Amino acid sequence: MSTFPATRLRRLRRTGALRKLVGETRLDLSDVVMPLFVSPEALANEALPAMSRHTVDGLVREVDRFASSGVPAVLLFGIPEAKDDEGSGAWIDDGIVQQALRALREHFPELLLLTDVCLCEYTAHGHCGVLSGGEVDNDATLDLLARTSISHVEAGADAVCPSDMMDGRVGAIRQALDDGGHEQTPIVAYSAKYASAFYGPFRDAADSAPAFGDRRGYQMDPANVREALRECELDLAEGADVIMVKPALPYLDVVRAVRERFPVPVAAYNVSGEYGMIKAAAARGWLDERQAALESLTAIKRAGADIVVTYWARDLAAWL
Ligand code: PBG
Repeated sequence: MSTFPATRLRRLRRTGALRKLVGETRLDLSDVVMPLFVSPEALANEALPAMSRHTVDGLVREVDRFASSGVPAVLLFGIPEAKDDEGSGAWIDDGIVQQALRALREHFPELLLLTDVCLCEYTAHGHCGVLSGGEVDNDATLDLLARTSISHVEAGADAVCPSDMMDGRVGAIRQALDDGGHEQTPIVAYSAKYASAFYGPFRDAADSAPAFGDRRGYQMDPANVREALRECELDLAEGADVIMVKPALPYLDVVRAVRERFPVPVAAYNVSGEYGMIKAAAARGWLDERQAALESLTAIKRAGADIVVTYWARDLAAWL
């Protein structure tokens, strides 16, 4: 191999066209998913616009602003009118996400409608499953997650995304979908979801902070990566079609490990705290939001993600 001066790596960095020609990773609008919050009452968030809550009508207007720009998919989160111990707002036929799905399906036939399947926004105690003896009861929760999934698909969801981290949920959901004649509906499993401090802004937006304790009894310990591979392996064995790592930036090594181990589509969720940190720093003039966001999202793809869930999806359409 030749070295300097025959070799000059700067030659291919000289112009934008050259850099683009040899670029190894491309951020593409067709790989991003925009999360959105729907609730009976709107609640604007000026500092973090993507964390705003929309009514069903407002959601249709919001999606209308970017649907034609090439963002292929949205991921819906619901904040129900009322919460109870079982999170019934998650699966009732006229639940807020179900209403949103029907409205979006009608207005945007081409848009991919993904839904987050979890009980934490719907339970009065804010945990991701039903409680028994002060703990989240894994097996009793599975049936409710399966009911929620069926209800979303019947209302128009193209794929369901279980994010609760119960053991066996992918299998329970797959079985219920198949029994209901929805064997063609994919499951995008939040397989390696960590008990992270970076969900802070989301929990305000979704009103889903646990009323007591934390989620470390079901979400993963940030120290672990081998365990993430086991989670992915089990989810795939249970029928997951896409596996997800969440959060993204502090876990790029996990994205890479999952990418190398499994020949399936890998998603990464660039979560609310990752979005919030850049927004806050940009508001202080400490960094440029667009550049920092593009760099972050490119890094997530470089680590091996095929799909990136990001609160910048809508802005990306204008940036790219
Ligand atoms: C659970 C869920 C959470 C997020 C997505 N799904 C929060 C949690 O586990 O507490 C976080 C997303 C984000 O921070 O952007 N329903």
